[in-house]
Amino acid sequence: MVKLSVNGIERDCPADPDTPLLWALREDLGLTGTKFGCGVGACGACTVHIDGEAVRSCPMPLSDVGAVKVTTIEALGKAEADKLHPVQQAWVEAQVPQCGYCQPGMIMAVAALLARDPDPSETSIREQITNICRCGTYPRIVAAVRQAAAAARA
Ligand code: FES
Repeated sequence: MVKLSVNGIERDCPADPDTPLLWALREDLGLTGTKFGCGVGACGACTVHIDGEAVRSCPMPLSDVGAVKVTTIEALGKAEADKLHPVQQAWVEAQVPQCGYCQPGMIMAVAALLARDPDPSETSIREQITNICRCGTYPRIVAAVRQAAAAARA
């Protein structure tokens, strides 16, 4: 049993301490918005926030998570309350996703980027968002990040 702080709630997770955070979120806590892609920390599909920083959850054992605050895509915005996060709103307006599989991780990475840099250049976006999209939606991602940044600053 491992104690986790996820989306503002203290949870008891029945997984072993060496279980990757990704699988504890998906299999034990039912938070399936965080996706499995490569399993080796390369693609970014599993990106969550840990104390506000974008972290790839597939290579991270629960024993390394400790008492830090984990946030998943489920808690980034509130669609039912019409309160999407600015990144999510920009994603909708720019119609970024194609298959959509990588997009939760992409959105989490972008939200963390904008929290530390509210006006990133296109070069900075391309350098710092290293998540992989097999559909190749990168031009729309860059446009949506710029749109989200402008909306967040307004
Ligand atoms: Fe974690 Fe690819 S599934 S980085």
